[in-house]
Amino acid sequence: MPKAYYITTPLYYVNASPHIGHSYTEIAADCLARYHRLKGETVFLLTGTDEHGQKIEQAAAASGRPPQAFVDGVVERFKELWKLLNISYDDFLRTTEPRHVRVVQACLTRLQQEKQLHHATYQGWYCTPCETFWTKEELPSGASPAPVCPNCARPLEAVEEEGWYLPLRAHQPWLQGFLKAHPAFIQPQTRYNEIASLLEQPLPEYLCITRPRRRVGWGIPVPFSEGHVTYVWFDALLNYISAVGYGMDEARLSAHWPADVHVIGKDILRHHAVYWPIILHALGLSDEQMPRLIFAHGWWKVGEQKMSKSLGNIVDPYAVVRELLKSQPYAADVYRYFLLRDVPFGQDGAFSEEALLGRLEADLANDLGNLVNRTLSMIERYCGGKIPSTTQLGRSAQYDDPLQQATHDLAKQVDTAMSRIEFANALDAIMRVVSQANQYIELTAPWKLTKGQGDGGVQRLHTVLSILAHVIHVVAITLESFMPSVSEAIWQQLGMGDSPRRLADATSWTGDPLAGKTLGKREVLFPKT
Ligand code: MSP
Repeated sequence: MPKAYYITTPLYYVNASPHIGHSYTEIAADCLARYHRLKGETVFLLTGTDEHGQKIEQAAAASGRPPQAFVDGVVERFKELWKLLNISYDDFLRTTEPRHVRVVQACLTRLQQEKQLHHATYQGWYCTPCETFWTKEELPSGASPAPVCPNCARPLEAVEEEGWYLPLRAHQPWLQGFLKAHPAFIQPQTRYNEIASLLEQPLPEYLCITRPRRRVGWGIPVPFSEGHVTYVWFDALLNYISAVGYGMDEARLSAHWPADVHVIGKDILRHHAVYWPIILHALGLSDEQMPRLIFAHGWWKVGEQKMSKSLGNIVDPYAVVRELLKSQPYAADVYRYFLLRDVPFGQDGAFSEEALLGRLEADLANDLGNLVNRTLSMIERYCGGKIPSTTQLGRSAQYDDPLQQATHDLAKQVDTAMSRIEFANALDAIMRVVSQANQYIELTAPWKLTKGQGDGGVQRLHTVLSILAHVIHVVAITLESFMPSVSEAIWQQLGMGDSPRRLADATSWTGDPLAGKTLGKREVLFPKT
């Protein structure tokens, strides 16, 4: 079996319904997965939910339901949202599934049998919202008087728990060497630098990988220690290998692992870039078997504020798609476009309804929608709804060459941007060609060519419309990963039927592949309200 291009998302905590931050990670991973499929690669996109731990146990208790019933309910909110947002995942793993629990327990047993685990009493601090342990040395303010989490700034709880530990510091020299040898392991560069400088200081000696059952009952039982459940991060990180057959199905594992990209948010960088490689290293994986890339994106705020329940400013993707954008037939794609276009992937962004509606109007309705609408209605009116052919006689090098060149170069530009996971740059390249095509319509004024006036008359008219149809064809292909439904709608309007969209068809422009195609049913893509 050839190896799939393996993309993962974090597993989302199911203590509450999904918000914009979760949807951002998911849309980004989906966009990447669709892009690699567009290139003809076999892709495996894994997503799922992180269902154990103290935070979820508390949320279940607050709702008055047993944890399993509670998480079963919240998981549906996530699945429903991924459907609404056109997420094309290949597998959805829940950490409460037996296929995952088995692997976690097997890993624990193996580490224990190899005498890698250490039994001791932990004294330190715990952040329940982040489900993260902090030692005094890791707290910038020290441990007093009332320390807050370095990650989320919420109050920490002092804990003293006996349990099982995995050595961290013992693996530190290896991890430092690995990072040096793999300068592209963590992206963007700022995040790589952050971890490289973290590793210049000694790591905590150990990572506690269990919680006492009397404090946290909702977790995977530790097979060799009756009184403990597995610490939620040790449990959750292992999903990336449990989902693809680790320890169970060698052929399946090698058809997927190592992961090509772990898409995560910057808040969980340390867990993925320090704990995760160390866990894998402890399990005996070699440098070649480490994940290939960890990409940490930025954080969405609302205006200048962090989103939080107490501020009541949490952006609900359902509300944006179903209410704010209710007049839009492709509302989910508008939302996807905004998130991927407005902020360079890796940086923080500020969400506002005005910014979203502004992009909808300027980029989508006035530029993209207008190009498709004007071009296809002229083909309908002047060519009986059949895409005309380009003729040598009708060509104008002065006007046609720059647009044709830009269209020809577009897939290459998108490819360069996507190979660096620069969604905003890829979209910018697409939208620049769209604008250029709109200017071309103004310059060539096809409506003046209808009665044989101007240079070349009808031959020129046909050439102009044929070139524009081709631009739209390439735009539809390159937009597929970002706005799958809009891309499909344009495809149908162009009369492409069920022929697949492939990136290769956007790069090779020989002959006149669209000539003679009958346009499909037309509709306005982004209606104004
Ligand atoms: N359960 C852990 C991940 C375990 S992975 C083995 C977790 N879950 S989470 O639900 O809190 O977060 C999941 C993803 O949502 C993370 O990538 C996180 O960065 C992202 N976001 C949560 N809030 C966010 C914003 N406000 N903005 C952008 N993304 C953020 O962490």
